[in-house]
Amino acid sequence: MKVLAIMGSPHKGNTYKITQQFEENLKKYDNVDFNYLFLRESNLKRCIGCFNCIGIGEEHCPLKDDRDNILKQMLDSNGVVFTSPVYMFNVTALMKNFIDRLAYNGHRPQFFKQDAMIISTTGGMGLKQVNEYLKSVASTWGFRSNTVLGVITPPFKLKDKIIKKKHKEVAKAAKEFYKKLSKSNWSPSLSNLIQFTAFRAIADVECMVDVLTADYNFYKPLNDKKFYFDVKVNPIKYNIANLLGGLIKNSLRKTIKKE
Ligand SMILES: Cc1cc2nc3c(=O)[nH]c(=O)nc-3n(C[C@H](O)[C@H](O)[C@H](O)COP(=O)(O)O)c2cc1C
Repeated sequence: MKVLAIMGSPHKGNTYKITQQFEENLKKYDNVDFNYLFLRESNLKRCIGCFNCIGIGEEHCPLKDDRDNILKQMLDSNGVVFTSPVYMFNVTALMKNFIDRLAYNGHRPQFFKQDAMIISTTGGMGLKQVNEYLKSVASTWGFRSNTVLGVITPPFKLKDKIIKKKHKEVAKAAKEFYKKLSKSNWSPSLSNLIQFTAFRAIADVECMVDVLTADYNFYKPLNDKKFYFDVKVNPIKYNIANLLGGLIKNSLRKTIKKE
């Protein structure tokens, strides 16, 4: 089993320590091949906001760097660990840039065979915001599941019993993540299906071939499908999602100015 940890901290501090503990615990279950990708050492240039990746396709990104190599490493793994300390109630700038550079995956997800693990640390506040944010990123990118570990790592020494409790939380999260990694059957949730039918419906609105060309080309062959790939889909959930997709399409049509 292969796991890739994307390290969002600009140094080897608390988040690295917790991730190492997590790695140790995970390796108790299986011969896990655990790799670290330090964003601070990666050649990942800053997103310039051209919208090319989303609009016309990721191959049109003008920045030439390690993006595709990072993507390949993620796709070659069974699990991806997103790690970030809380910096001003948010993920670090490194993590945010990494997410922006891969933002097109939110429109055209592809991590269907991977499980996501989220590890965040904080001095005291902001774990909830960061975890919720990283969860929505992983879920829109197509990850099968999310497991979350948020740890408070204050800048003072902790009593032994509190440290022990934190170790237990790390061990529990590793166990939970391993369980999800080992699961072979999976079926899309209602929100997975809504993402699919909503993006497909948007891409089908008349003018979208000009604005969201990449989405249009991506979703066109999926017109008579129930999801991004062949998988067992609950028909009731699909019908609800498809109905919502239709509503989104209609309301979008009403807002677009015809030239
Ligand atoms: C620039 C900066 C901003 C921070 N912002 C917050 C914050 O908003 N809330 C908080 O509770 N802790 C905050 N902290 C503390 C860190 O979240 C905490 O120490 C974390 O464990 C650091 O992880 P690291 O060693 O991997 O950088 C901040 C630390 C730094 C350096």
